[in-house]
Amino acid sequence: MTASPTVLILAAGEGTRMKSRLPKVLHPIAGLSMLGHVAATVEAAVAGAATGLVIGPHMEGVTAGAARSFVQKDRLGTAHAVLQARPLLEAAEGPILVLYGDTPLIRPETLRRLVSAVTQGPAIAVLGFRAADPTGYGRLLTRDGQLTAIREERDATDEERRIDLCNSGVMAFAPGKALGLLDRIRNDNAKGEFYLTDAVALAVADGESAAIIECGEDEVLGVNTRAQLAEAEAEFQARARRAAMEEGATLVAPDTVFFSHDTKLGRDVVVEPNVVFAPGVVVEDGATIRAFSHLEGAHVSSGATVGPYARLRPGARIGESVHIGNFVEIKAATIERGAKVNHLSYVGDARVGEGANVGAGTITCNYDGFSKHVTDIGAGAFIGSNSALVAPVKIGDGAYVGSGSVITEDVATDALAIGRGRQVAKAGRARELREALGKKKGG
Ligand code: UD1
Ligand code: CA
Repeated sequence: MTASPTVLILAAGEGTRMKSRLPKVLHPIAGLSMLGHVAATVEAAVAGAATGLVIGPHMEGVTAGAARSFVQKDRLGTAHAVLQARPLLEAAEGPILVLYGDTPLIRPETLRRLVSAVTQGPAIAVLGFRAADPTGYGRLLTRDGQLTAIREERDATDEERRIDLCNSGVMAFAPGKALGLLDRIRNDNAKGEFYLTDAVALAVADGESAAIIECGEDEVLGVNTRAQLAEAEAEFQARARRAAMEEGATLVAPDTVFFSHDTKLGRDVVVEPNVVFAPGVVVEDGATIRAFSHLEGAHVSSGATVGPYARLRPGARIGESVHIGNFVEIKAATIERGAKVNHLSYVGDARVGEGANVGAGTITCNYDGFSKHVTDIGAGAFIGSNSALVAPVKIGDGAYVGSGSVITEDVATDALAIGRGRQVAKAGRARELREALGKKKGG
């Protein structure tokens, strides 16, 4: 058995073309940084691998899980970047896998294929792909189907530039091979950089073999610009939509539903058009998310209905068969089984008990300008429309709050509370006013 792989993620690039204050690899795709995606893929492919991260001098805050960071002071090329992690390379007993932090869509199976390739003879395995437009990429040069060298665009002949089999940048080294090759790489090329890719020709000159593992171009899309960030996002979304449907969710209009990296949908979940899942959402079997809803940090239980036009914010826990209707916002609140909040309400820092009915326009006044307070609504309670529940306040089980109430004191179990002034009525007064002003009925 081979020792487990050591992984190195290169991320020292400045990402100037992003025109951003944020380091490039921290830009998010589906709510997770590109680096987070790469780290998650590594974890899925080779759990627990010793991992190193090569960052630039002004990127101190950039980390990836448990990865050890190495700072590359001068950006002298990809081989130079890898060598910054020398202590990690020296300690490695198994294969070494090199990835880029700005290539977030690679699949775990692909990494496993690369690693397994270098346990079967070749000193190096390179992840290659057929590029629709190979311009700018290093080309994979082969003789009799065997990889002999990687030629960077700038150093390539016209004939070599016609090759569409390209280097993704991801490569694996067989155990014990990396340092011996990397230390011999020189910078006598068009860019004056130490090219990691030169390791291939050096290995072949040593009489070793180098393998090509191919993958689809969609997996190795590198992000250098905001437009490419959007392309990567689109590719991620396409995959997430397919996966959700394969797992048994119905997406009525898949192209209009947006997922986060961690969205979980159960079976027979129905998602109507134009729904956004921000991070931290779980939707259990048989729930329906109706059109134009936005969910974040929320748990929706079986058989519940959310929306249309609902907003679930972090800490929303929607119980079984609950109905959350249009223009309802729920934040840090538990809505227990079978309760209904159907129209135009804000429920924050609250519990709504089983089977309770929260009428249209109800607001939990949870914030007094200084701190947040809790509203507790008992099981089977009825909150009349357009009520303001001024927290902290407790509505007992089975209690009834009259419409338009401002509730500032607790309401006991089964009590009726009406928190508004008495209605004033003056017979004929409307007609008198109208006549005095010379107006017609109804304005
Ligand atoms: C590199 C490959 C090329 C491949 C392409 C795929 C080399 C010499 N060329 O070219 O064959 O087709 O990627 O996208 O490897 N980095 C550092 N420190 C450095 C230089 C780079 O950390 O000194 C990191 C960058 O942050 C980036 C990655 O390495 O994540 C690739 O660097 P980049 O300069 O973009 O390489 P390319 O010229 O695109
Ligand atoms: Ca690049």
